[in-house]
Amino acid sequence: MATTKKKTTTSKTTTSKTTTSKTATKKTEKLPKIKFTERKKIIFLGSEAAPFIATGGLADVLGSLPKALAKNKNNDVSVILPLYSAVNQELRAKFTFMTSFNVSVGWRWQYAGVFKYVYQGVTFYFIDNEYYFKREGNIYGFYDDGERFAFFSRACLDTIARLNIYPDILHCNDWQTAGSIIYLKGMYYGDENFRKIKSVFTIHNIEYQGIFGMDTFESLFGFSANLRQLVEFDGNVNLMKGAIEMSDIVSTVSPTYAKEIKYSFFAHGLENIIKRNEQKIYGILNGIDIDYYNPETDKFLFKNYTAEDVSGKAICKAELQKMLNLPVREDVPIIAVISRLVSHKGLDLIRSTIESLLSQDVQVVILGKGEIVYENFFTHISANYKGKCATVIAFNQDLSRKIYSGADIFLMPSKMEPCGLSQMIASRYGTVAIVRETGGLNDSIKPYTGSEGNGFTFHDYNAHDMLYTINEAIRTYKDKNVWKDVQYRAMTTDFSWKVQAGEYESLYKK
Ligand code: GLC
Repeated sequence: MATTKKKTTTSKTTTSKTTTSKTATKKTEKLPKIKFTERKKIIFLGSEAAPFIATGGLADVLGSLPKALAKNKNNDVSVILPLYSAVNQELRAKFTFMTSFNVSVGWRWQYAGVFKYVYQGVTFYFIDNEYYFKREGNIYGFYDDGERFAFFSRACLDTIARLNIYPDILHCNDWQTAGSIIYLKGMYYGDENFRKIKSVFTIHNIEYQGIFGMDTFESLFGFSANLRQLVEFDGNVNLMKGAIEMSDIVSTVSPTYAKEIKYSFFAHGLENIIKRNEQKIYGILNGIDIDYYNPETDKFLFKNYTAEDVSGKAICKAELQKMLNLPVREDVPIIAVISRLVSHKGLDLIRSTIESLLSQDVQVVILGKGEIVYENFFTHISANYKGKCATVIAFNQDLSRKIYSGADIFLMPSKMEPCGLSQMIASRYGTVAIVRETGGLNDSIKPYTGSEGNGFTFHDYNAHDMLYTINEAIRTYKDKNVWKDVQYRAMTTDFSWKVQAGEYESLYKK
């Protein structure tokens, strides 16, 4: 979009300002210029990717970063995913069967079928095994998740050998595919084709490490005894720890988070492992798919609009108010929260101040699902504040776009946030973000000062600091000319993958 070229706070500037180590700063600043000129094969492994299967931010990243990399014609990019029964049926009908074989899982052999589908320049492979992946409801959270992803991690490597698609780079994401790095480096190196592969492991959230009892080490994962020191942590199998130790490069999803995970408050026990491997850890801010999240073309919106002409946004707002039984008023600011309703999203700050916020002339809209305490609390509050507060307990793509476009202010006060994508999406739809300065929130939203900045921020995890900042945003909202400026800056901030895809290329090049 032409508008992204306008003078604004760009994620590029924020990235270089906050990159953790000096060496990383130097590297990331130069990265965008580096484009592979020789052909490189990159294979991503992950547990979800949009539009095939999505439950969180990881799916957005695996649905958009490979596509951005594939724009460089020298990159041959593939993604391998599990073929869950919940994979989008319409797309699934187009997959081609490639091969099948048996995969070693502990002392057993399990069937793996491989399907292929080329989508937006990226080749997707799907590993089929109904015993592991044909499940009702969610895609994770089963008693045998360890076994399911032990199978998947190994099946990915076996697929590579079977189809003879050995990559230059194997890029694994989160604990579900951490096992592939451990197998690759610890058990498959006897094969020269595997030995040549370089590996990148990306931590999307260090909270979820893939921890299993030590009895699974051999019987389930089939790890060889010499890997024990690398994979064991605190008396358990810890897949993320193993991948951090064994991967050639580790990255995480924002420069600030790369710095934060050296501290115990953020690292969920792994701070010393992070510090020990510091020299190979990089923070690269995620981007979003700006074609997919585009207010100019988004089909979910009541009316499309652009940064140059936001008039359609007023219609989106009025329709949203009607839909949620809020009085249709142009002048009242709508403050929105779209989030998984879990504690690290900073919901306690909202819980303790929402009544004082609602005593003012505002409307508050909450969309999300998660922990029952928060679901109940927000449902209860909106029943008590009818016409001021509306809560919808759901994960709903259509409604989320209507809120991103119809609201004025987006609140995201996370206690921890490796990257966070909603603040970027909201900004793109002209809904100005208020964030706490942590992780990727700190790297993507900069406080509005008049001459720069694209949102509002506060530092301490303190409810009244948050409320103070919300009030500052409301005051700014009332001055229409100033608001137009901050909104324009938010909408024209470059959140695309353009810069960051170059940063990944540079990591691969290393
Ligand atoms: C995880 C993180 C989130 C990040 C996403 C994509 O869901 O919690 O902050 O944006 O991964 O990397």
